[in-house]
Amino acid sequence: MGNESSGGTKGQRGVESVPGMNDVLPKDVGRWRALEERFRAQCERYGFGEIRTPMCEYTELFARGIGEETDVVAKEMYTFEDRGGRSLTLRPEGTASAVRAYLEHRISNLGGVARWYYVGPMFRGERPAKGRYRQFHQVGAEVYGDGGPMVDAELVDLAYSFVTSLGISQAKVRVNSLGSGDTKRRYADALREYYKPLAEKLSPDSQRRIETNPLRILDSKAREDVALRAGAPKLMELLGDEDRRHFDRVCSALDALGTPYEVDATIIRGLDYYSRTIFEITDTSGTLGAQDALGGGGRYDGLIEQLGGKSTPAVGFALGVERLLIAAPESSLAAPAVKSCAVFAVDRDEPERVQSAALAIAKELRSAGIVVHIDTRFGKLDRQFQHAERVGASCAIVVGKQELDNGRVELRELDTRRQNAVPRDAIVAKVTEVLAKSGSAPG
Ligand code: HAM
Repeated sequence: MGNESSGGTKGQRGVESVPGMNDVLPKDVGRWRALEERFRAQCERYGFGEIRTPMCEYTELFARGIGEETDVVAKEMYTFEDRGGRSLTLRPEGTASAVRAYLEHRISNLGGVARWYYVGPMFRGERPAKGRYRQFHQVGAEVYGDGGPMVDAELVDLAYSFVTSLGISQAKVRVNSLGSGDTKRRYADALREYYKPLAEKLSPDSQRRIETNPLRILDSKAREDVALRAGAPKLMELLGDEDRRHFDRVCSALDALGTPYEVDATIIRGLDYYSRTIFEITDTSGTLGAQDALGGGGRYDGLIEQLGGKSTPAVGFALGVERLLIAAPESSLAAPAVKSCAVFAVDRDEPERVQSAALAIAKELRSAGIVVHIDTRFGKLDRQFQHAERVGASCAIVVGKQELDNGRVELRELDTRRQNAVPRDAIVAKVTEVLAKSGSAPG
């Protein structure tokens, strides 16, 4: 995955790719497309519609939506000024943009529940590593207008089923609740009380966050902060009755769906907008190394109001495409083999006429839905055969002057080397027949 593992040499200085921003070459793109198409199909089966939002937004949206004190906003955003001096940021995630679109298009006026999904690139200026990139991709889903626990469970199940459908067999779901209303504030107070006497032992970032946002200390990866985490108060103990009931119902719905999960009071998520249910899915096989989080999400009932809309419950998740592709076995996203035909042109005397005829035949076959390879350099016949073999064509049409004059071409089956003359107007039917015989329908 990614350029860092491709073993290729970097381009000349000034024209190489940005570290952590990778090309996907044609040989790899089939797996990406298979994954994206499967996600789309699965979301549509769950009644979701696709939303596409712009790649960048006004910086304010992310600062207010995700939280100034989160790593994403404080350290990782690609922010720049447009020509008018407005601050823009490449989207680091999809949720804030989806909420902005929900508000801007007054979706709440339509009544009912909105179910949206998205697929696309996100940008975070993190230190590149296996499974951690600066341009990465997410597939995600968001639901607006349903505050009940059933939709939380349905989303956890959707995400988990998708992960396992990719053949990722060691995925683990962990769920927790952050409570609602002032639970987070009360928890922040409890954390402050716990961390204040320990301040000197914390990382500099966490020392600052004791006052500004102590929940973030629990999310820190600094060794000194991790060491003090075990003794910190647990949020579960502060949950009010309503929040507790909501969480219990999420868990019992997951039981009914047969979705395996673990309640883990230590997860808090890296973004500030969450309330009540939160969850993470990790790959425990070790394939991903340190970046084992395949995805996560949860409820963010306060965000729409915080961004200027009327109070509307919301819940969603996102999964990292690159990490899914690393964790999924090769075979589970293999593209089906497509049978194809090559077209050759051979003639020394009237090359232009024969080559143009070859192009026209290729076009006719393609119009009938057949995949056609043609080496438009039209070198020696041997070379054209080599090209056909390299691309894995099953048969080849050989166009020559004499044959054209007689209204025929040669059709050669490349595995058996059988060759037959075929009337010009029967080419599509014959090629279709040969390809079907060699194991697959055209296209
Ligand atoms: P997140 O946990 O920040 O959540 O990201 C979700 C997933 O995106 C991660 O678990 C990981 O697989 C992938 N990811 C994040 N950063 C990188 C990176 N630098 N390189 C590669 N993959 C990465 C969100 O983004 C929330 N918007 C999810 C959500 C939707 N919550 C509610 N609705």
